[in-house]
Amino acid sequence: MSTEGRYTITAALPYTNGPIHIGHLAGVYVPADIYSRYLRMTGNDVAFICGSDEHGAAIPMRAKKEGVSPQVIIDKYHAIIKKSFNDFGISFDNYSRTSAPIHHETASEFFKKLYDDDKFIEETSKQLFDPEAEQFLADRFVTGTCPKCGHEEAYGDQCENCGSTLNATDLINPKSTISGAEPILKQTKHWFLPLDQYDEFLKEWVLVGHKKDWKANVYGQIKSWLDDGLRPRAVTRDLDWGIPVPVEGAEGKVLYVWFDAPIGYISSTKEWATREGKDWEPYWKDKNTKLVHFIGKDNIVFHCIIFPSMLKAEGSYILPENVPANEFLNLEGNKLSTSKNWAVWLHEYLEEFPDKQDVLRYALTANAPETKDNDFTWKDFQARNNNELVAVFGNFINRVVVLTNKYYNGIVPTPAAFSEVDKQTLAELKAYPAVISSSIERYRFREASQELLNVARLGNKYLADEEPWKLIKTDEERTQTIMYVALQIAGALATLSEPFLPFTSGKLKTILNLSSSEVASTWNDISTKEILIPTGHQIEKGELLFSKIEDAEIQKQLEKLEATKKANEAENKEIEPQKDIAAFEDFTKLDIRIGTIIEAEKMPKAKKLLVLKVDTGINIRTIVSGIAEHFSPEDIVGKKVTVFVNLAPRKLRGVESEGMILMTETPEGKLVFLNPDEDGVDPGAVVN
Ligand code: 2FM
Ligand code: ZN
Repeated sequence: MSTEGRYTITAALPYTNGPIHIGHLAGVYVPADIYSRYLRMTGNDVAFICGSDEHGAAIPMRAKKEGVSPQVIIDKYHAIIKKSFNDFGISFDNYSRTSAPIHHETASEFFKKLYDDDKFIEETSKQLFDPEAEQFLADRFVTGTCPKCGHEEAYGDQCENCGSTLNATDLINPKSTISGAEPILKQTKHWFLPLDQYDEFLKEWVLVGHKKDWKANVYGQIKSWLDDGLRPRAVTRDLDWGIPVPVEGAEGKVLYVWFDAPIGYISSTKEWATREGKDWEPYWKDKNTKLVHFIGKDNIVFHCIIFPSMLKAEGSYILPENVPANEFLNLEGNKLSTSKNWAVWLHEYLEEFPDKQDVLRYALTANAPETKDNDFTWKDFQARNNNELVAVFGNFINRVVVLTNKYYNGIVPTPAAFSEVDKQTLAELKAYPAVISSSIERYRFREASQELLNVARLGNKYLADEEPWKLIKTDEERTQTIMYVALQIAGALATLSEPFLPFTSGKLKTILNLSSSEVASTWNDISTKEILIPTGHQIEKGELLFSKIEDAEIQKQLEKLEATKKANEAENKEIEPQKDIAAFEDFTKLDIRIGTIIEAEKMPKAKKLLVLKVDTGINIRTIVSGIAEHFSPEDIVGKKVTVFVNLAPRKLRGVESEGMILMTETPEGKLVFLNPDEDGVDPGAVVN
């Protein structure tokens, strides 16, 4: 178990172009929080650092969409994000923002140091320029076809399909995302970090040094980039939103967002240290400090290649000890998306499930995308709560608390001699901290969360086998011993659950009355202390730790997603282009009338066809219509419809059809009749 080390733990700085959703939580913030809480509990000195990433193209783009200034956007989302993290129990030691003066200073100084040390290549080259918006295009301002995989919507800095990092000029058929214009090439000066010069260092550091201890998905991505060969990368941009490049001759240029954002970890640490009266430097420069970056897989190149090269170039910083990047979480089978509103938003979840932070933390951990992309479903969320938290964890605690209150007025009883089962159970309990530690220290949080549940399972099995509720009638002494043992397990759960379920752990400590220093236990105490809750200790009556989530609540969430899906479909539905101009004479050739369907039946052996008898006012005629998958015959008899009556007759499956029923379609593909409801519009009425 790691104790008394110094850790700087960073969680990816979220862009302030939208709120936090479950994908961010599962990928980065929940595992980082479990890790940080665990390390603090095991006696380490931890700086858990984060903040808002407020530069980059995503911000002005969102601002443009909402018709406000970028400052309005960053202020709005910074506030929402910061509050939701806090309400969700993410225990950052500091949450800063990259618009803060300390960050501008730190990032500028960092750039200046590399500049003064000749670590950049200064180069004037032709870059993509939008002639309509009169702006250079890089990163998210330009899309085009990825030269590596052919994906048609790759961005100027990265292809989200194959994960390649790109330069905007690499894109095939580039298009401005501001105006849609085809960019032209225009000369501009930029500063490049010659990543190719760091190739050997990176190979030695990652491929040799971390082959065994880094996650396979992270290691594999880095290897493939290094195998492909690295090229110099521009670290400045022609933009008016960002940190001005702090050297002469760089007017109108800002630092590339991926140059300044990771430096945000350093400036956030400085902000924290100043507030706490500490020195920030050991957290970034002492070789004994362990630096760990929690990120999603799309950030691997920036944290494992670009930022380490920057740190190496600067010369006085430590490098990350590990970068335990997660894969992606999907939602009900589809990719999470801020722009498509396909997400479970944290701030909304907290409003709708105000006392269920731990349920989401648990569901996301138990199903975390640690080694492959995973899917979040509301059904799984419900099952994790009802079948695991309520039925296993909550049930065990409830039994212990209720029985202790019932038999002993809440006072921990005196045990008699332990049986073999008791000894075995207590020995198993003492082994759990090491088991859970080992999983956490290897970044296997899913596994760790299941081991935590196993502690409650141990308790449930013990109670079910020993049956104190039966023995109380015949053997009081034995019952006391059983309840004493069960209370020790409950006490252990109060501590071991803290990294995963901090709200539950707090509640449980209140129920078991464990806040005073004589009875409080550290992580390591669970294995080493003889007694966790002593005889004579008074516990409270308590409340239920978890409550069942009913189907109706899940249904409500599914309906919310369904509504989003429909809204997206409607928005994406392409409006068919107008057909060629038709002369009025062409239109007058068409005879369109109102008719009434008077009979309808299925065409034998044809899935799609109905045979209709329609009163057109002219006559009653047969029309074969391809609507059988949308309407059943009995539903449409008597309906008024619009009929193209002089369409040349044609035979369908041997039945002559004399006309066509006119219809339209909703965005979801539902067919709708054009039926005039007005009274007095009768069969035979002409449409013109
Ligand atoms: O991908 C993102 O959301 C970025 N804003 C992460 C930045 S991490 C760090 F480098 F700041
Ligand atoms: Zn690609």
